[in-house]
Amino acid sequence: MTLLQIENLAIDLTRGAQTHRLVSDASWQLDAGQTLAVVGESGSGKSLTALAVMGLLADELTPAAGHILFDGKDLLTATDDELRQLRGPQIAMVFQEPMTSLNPVKTIGYQLTEGMRHHLGFSAKQAKARALDLLEQVGISDAKRRLKQYPHHFSGGMRQRVMIAIALACKPRLILADEPTTALDVTIQAQILSLLSRLCSEQGVGLVLITHNLGIVARHARRVVVMYAGSVVEAADARQLYRAPKHPYTHGLLSSVPRMDTRKGSKLLPIQGAPPDPFDVLRGCRFNPRCQHATDKCLTDKPLIDHMAVHAVACWNQLDTPLDHTLNRPISNNASGETRNP
Ligand SMILES: Nc1ncnc2c1ncn2[C@@H]1O[C@H](COP(=O)(O)OP(=O)(O)O)[C@@H](O)[C@H]1O
Ligand SMILES: [Mg+2]
Repeated sequence: MTLLQIENLAIDLTRGAQTHRLVSDASWQLDAGQTLAVVGESGSGKSLTALAVMGLLADELTPAAGHILFDGKDLLTATDDELRQLRGPQIAMVFQEPMTSLNPVKTIGYQLTEGMRHHLGFSAKQAKARALDLLEQVGISDAKRRLKQYPHHFSGGMRQRVMIAIALACKPRLILADEPTTALDVTIQAQILSLLSRLCSEQGVGLVLITHNLGIVARHARRVVVMYAGSVVEAADARQLYRAPKHPYTHGLLSSVPRMDTRKGSKLLPIQGAPPDPFDVLRGCRFNPRCQHATDKCLTDKPLIDHMAVHAVACWNQLDTPLDHTLNRPISNNASGETRNP
């Protein structure tokens, strides 16, 4: 069953009399209880898409086209009141830097129980019992004492565990996690991501994992959506995308990040150049200035994407060679013509 469906979403920025399109034709969907990763370099429109789902776009930003269906209901036409009823009990968010989303002058216990009392009608005693249980679920020991402490008593990783507990507190059906581990060191990142995806899958919560690092989400998500310069450029099942990315940009993303299986001594290859300025008008494919495979057509015609395809790609020159992950380069044709697994 589809829990969240984003259809041809466009987000515009208005500055004076001028309008700039920051996100265009973004489409993807998430089934109940599943995990989807949204991946792309900084500035590709990931956070704007998530904020649009939450109804939290800044004033100068408007969803200019498309639909965001949650359980079949269009959030873009929902009233502020309806959205407030959904945030917390139905849709929760985990942000990159918990210090800015936690209230520094309220105890962790207060912040964990507030939503349960407000949205679920829990008594103080019921809420406290669930708060203790939640802290244990996210691996925070000595929970009784921890409830009385303030955010600054917790390390970065522990604060992010608290944020996960708060997100789960009202038993939401969807969690949007926007770069939830970016501020943490690599080992803690892996632990927190595993924890978040395990708890969501155990509790049947749909999870959207937003990140710039394709390497760290591949194992947690069933499906991956790749965004570039405000548009979806590739979407496929995680294993397929990881093994044989078809868009040169995705290929670049995979070659530029270290992964568990990257062979020692093999080179990481950053994508040359930078994403286009959203205010620049660029014809054709927006990735063309950085693309080694660009042809004349890419300079003039924008490649379209069939969002319904199992492996959707917006590219005129799709790659058809699986990636050798241990060497970070395409596998050369071997005699049997078979492809190796990553
Ligand atoms: N409030 C805003 N005003 C102007 N530009 C914005 C605003 N928010 C985001 N943008 C621009 O929109 C683009 C997409 O931003 P964002 O969704 O935050 O990217 P990501 O999360 O993928 O790093 C970026 O170019 C960013 O500079
Ligand atoms: Mg972001």
